[in-house]
Amino acid sequence: MREFFNNYVQSLETYIMFRIKETVAQITPELTAKNRAPISLSMGAPTSMPPKKVIEVLKQTLDEKGAHLYSTPKGEKFFREAIAKRMQDRFNVTLNPDKEIFSLIGSKEGIANFIRALINPTTVKSEQDIILVPDPGYASYKEMIKASGGFAYSVALTPENNFMPDMEETLEQFVKDGYNPRKIKALLINYPNNPIGATATKEYMESVVKFCKKHHILLVSDAAYTDMYFKSELKPMSVLEIEGAKDIAVEFFSFSKPYAMTGWRLGWICGNEEAVQIFGKLKSTIDSGIFKALQKAAAEIINSQEGEEYIKEANLKFKKNQELLVEGLRELGWKNFYVPDATFYLWLPIPPRYNSSVEFSDDLMKVSGIVVVPGDAFGEYGKGYFRVSIVCPEEQIKEVIQRMKTDGFYFDK
Ligand SMILES: Cc1ncc(COP(=O)(O)O)c(C=O)c1O
Repeated sequence: MREFFNNYVQSLETYIMFRIKETVAQITPELTAKNRAPISLSMGAPTSMPPKKVIEVLKQTLDEKGAHLYSTPKGEKFFREAIAKRMQDRFNVTLNPDKEIFSLIGSKEGIANFIRALINPTTVKSEQDIILVPDPGYASYKEMIKASGGFAYSVALTPENNFMPDMEETLEQFVKDGYNPRKIKALLINYPNNPIGATATKEYMESVVKFCKKHHILLVSDAAYTDMYFKSELKPMSVLEIEGAKDIAVEFFSFSKPYAMTGWRLGWICGNEEAVQIFGKLKSTIDSGIFKALQKAAAEIINSQEGEEYIKEANLKFKKNQELLVEGLRELGWKNFYVPDATFYLWLPIPPRYNSSVEFSDDLMKVSGIVVVPGDAFGEYGKGYFRVSIVCPEEQIKEVIQRMKTDGFYFDK
């Protein structure tokens, strides 16, 4: 059967998060037997129930006539109008719900298909379209670029550049590396980002918009984590807040993280009208939109008081978990690491006695039942790091620290 599939798919492995899930399922009995039942710090998926309202509206809508018929790929009008109101109220960004917003079956689907829409597939290296991607960054970006026959050029996010790389300098390096700037289709940014949790300043967003306009590069912003933040003065922004950004940018949003609705598969793209509309044509050949009952529930929560309070409370919980974990890690000897003001991740160096992030993550899982993601999964600049997600209940964070102490997972011992 293998030979029927394209070269990329033939060499493809199951997506890292699902691979980890499968491994954990296999070794659960063994770990449980030695009192080390797995604690997952791997998935970026909040574990609480979604807001009550969203479930109530979903249940009510299930009985409505017509709810079970095809929706439209772009999303029901009430859904797009609710999104437009949210974008206005949260970011002061004005969008035309008929032309500048399109529904997605989760932002992962949207980004993957958007990338597909940009790249002219070819296996001839010098002719490949290029997308600049953050590294470390969400693992799906590079895979989808590869799958589409393009090339993903890593833009390094480092503590030295404050996780906001200067794009003109990056372009100079890109040319020195022998790549052709004319092949660049898009710059992908993700703030607050996965896996580091860093947020961009307004000045940085402005510089990125300016860069993309100057070099005629499409700006693609993945804004999945804009609602997960701990300081109101550092509230993450939408790139569309920058004047003139709509000329060159689209932005992806998701219901998954703010409302613990990862399994619902709901998101949207918004921004430049032409880009959204062209992409919409491709989408209309791929899927037929989101189940209307889900759209109804989502539209109800996104502008509600209950939704706002839910997000606030979830963020308080993430912050508390972050504090607990940071304190515990310091006791274990981790000194130099970035403590983010957004997202529910911590990006940590592996203890120096390990040769690789995979080796460390494997050991931590097999000995202590603590499941983290090796940094390599996020790109070449992820080597030597691991990502921890802090969405679990507080007791589990305490248990993690306790196990690490008991089992000898000290940073430099
Ligand atoms: C940066 C980033 N973008 C997009 C997604 C996808 O979210 P969803 O498809 O659930 O909307 C994730 C999920 O982990 C993510 O971390």
